[in-house]
Amino acid sequence: MAKDTKSFEIVVVGGGPGGYVAAIRAAQLGFKVAIVEGRSQLGGTCMNVGCIPSKALLYTTEHFHFLEHDAAAHGILFKDLKIDVAKMMARKDAVVAQLGKGIAGLMKKNKIEVFFGWGKLAGDHTVEVALSDGGSATLEAENIILATGSVPVELPFAPCDGEKIITSDQGIALPEVPAKMVVIGGGAIGLELASVWNRLGSEVTVLEFLPRVAAVGFDADISRAAQRSFEKQGLTIKTGAKVEAIKAGKKGVTVQAEEDGKKATYDADLVLVAVGRKPNVHGLGAEEAGIKLTEKGRIEVNERWQTSKLNVYAIGDVVAGPMLAHKAEEEGVAVAEILAGLPGHVNEGVIPNVIYTAPEIASVGLGEDAAKERKLKIKVGKFSLMANGRALAMGATDGQVKVIADAETDRVLGVQMIAATASDLIAEAVLLMEFGGSAEDLARTVHAHPTLSEANKEAALAVDKRALHA
Ligand code: NAI
Repeated sequence: MAKDTKSFEIVVVGGGPGGYVAAIRAAQLGFKVAIVEGRSQLGGTCMNVGCIPSKALLYTTEHFHFLEHDAAAHGILFKDLKIDVAKMMARKDAVVAQLGKGIAGLMKKNKIEVFFGWGKLAGDHTVEVALSDGGSATLEAENIILATGSVPVELPFAPCDGEKIITSDQGIALPEVPAKMVVIGGGAIGLELASVWNRLGSEVTVLEFLPRVAAVGFDADISRAAQRSFEKQGLTIKTGAKVEAIKAGKKGVTVQAEEDGKKATYDADLVLVAVGRKPNVHGLGAEEAGIKLTEKGRIEVNERWQTSKLNVYAIGDVVAGPMLAHKAEEEGVAVAEILAGLPGHVNEGVIPNVIYTAPEIASVGLGEDAAKERKLKIKVGKFSLMANGRALAMGATDGQVKVIADAETDRVLGVQMIAATASDLIAEAVLLMEFGGSAEDLARTVHAHPTLSEANKEAALAVDKRALHA
C-alpha cells in the first residue's frame, strides 16, 4: 500500500477515553484533528475490555445473585434458575459494539480522521502509523497528544498464558464458569471480577498482599466493612498473602503463597492476576524521540501536561495519577483547551474513586486515615444505611456514608461510602467539594425522600452530632 503523508494541527495517539475525548474537545475548538488507534475500534481498555464490559457482567450477575439468594424473601418464586454464559457474553459484547459505533459516529460528526494502526513518534512533529490493514501513514502535526493508556502488570515468576493464568482481558470473556478460581490482588479489578464469577457459582479465593482489600483510596474501616460484605456473599478473602509461585498444569493451576510466615497452597481451574496496571509506552518511540519517563515508567509531564518535548503532551494512565477513565477524560479536555489558549484545568484533589462491587464502594478527596496521618484537625460524621428507609425497602441496608470535614472551617475534605449505588451517590460529594462546600451546606440541602442520598445528608448532619435518624 502506498505511503501517505497528511498534515493536522493535532494528532492524538491512543483512542481510549483520554484520547478520543481530547480529540472531540479539540475538534469542537476548531482544530484539524487525527486520532491513531491500535485496536480495531476506539474506546480503549475502558470500553473494550475494562470498565464497560465488566459493568455489563456485574449487572447481569448481580441480578442472578438476587434471584438465587434474595428473591424468595420478596415473594418471587421460580424453578430451575440457570445462567447461559454464552448469552451473557453476547449481551456484553453487544453493549461494547454499540458504544464503539457511538464513538465512531462522534469522530465522524466532529470531522476527526481516524487511523487504525500502531502509532510511533518519529520526530517532534511526526507520528508514523503502521496501518492495521497494511502499509503506513505519516502524520505531521503542530501538537501531539499521547494517550496510550496502560496494560496489566504480570507477575515476573508467572507470565500470563491467557488460559490458566489470565488477566482481566480474559477474565471478562470466560466461556464457562470455572469451578474454582484464584484472584491475585484485592484492588478494583480483582474485587469486581471475583464478584462476577463468584455470583455465578465459582468458588473464588482472593489473595491480597496488603492487610486489607481496596487499600488504595479507601479508609481501613470502609475496606474492612466492604470485605465483610463480600465474605457474606461467599468470597474467600486472604489478606497478608504474598503469592510466590504459580504452577500451571494440564488440568489447572496451583498457587503458592506465604501468609503470616506460613506457606499456603491453593488449587484452582485458573488464576486471574489483577495486581495493577503499568503505563503503555511499548513501541511508542517516546524515549527515542527524547521524551523523558519517570522512574515508574510513566511519561513525565509538567502542570500543563507537556512532556520534555513541549509540543508533545501526554494524558491519562500513561502519566502520573490514578489510572481512571474519568481522570483521563478530564485531562484530555484540559489539554485541548490549553492548546486553544484557554485555562484548561483538572482538580486532581477531587477525583472520585469507585469499585463496582455489591455494595459499591466510593470515595473522593481525603480519607479519615490520610487526614489523621497529616495531623489535620477534622470532624467525622457517619451514617449507616440500616437507618435509611429507602435502603430498607430495597433490602440494601449493608453500607454507610462517612463525611470528613475540617474541624475549624467545616469544609468537606472527603467522603467515603459503601452503598448499593455509591457510584452515583458520590457525585453529590464531588460537586460539593468542587464548590468548596461545607458539611453544613450538605446538611441543609433538601434531599428527596425516600432516597439513599439522604444518607449523605445524615452523615453531614452527623459531623455536628445532629443526625436525625441515627
Ligand atoms: P490495584 O493497584 O488497584 O490493586 C492491585 C492489588 O494487588 C493491590 O492491592 C496490591 O497490594 C495487590 N498485589 C500486588 N502484588 C501482589 C501479589 N504478588 N500477591 C498478592 N497481592 C498483590 O490494581 P488493579 O485492581 O489491577 O487495577 C489497576 C488499575 O485500574 C488501578 O489503577 C485501578 O484503579 C484501575 N481500575 C479502576 C476500576 C474502577 O474504577 N472501578 C476498575 C478497574 C481498574
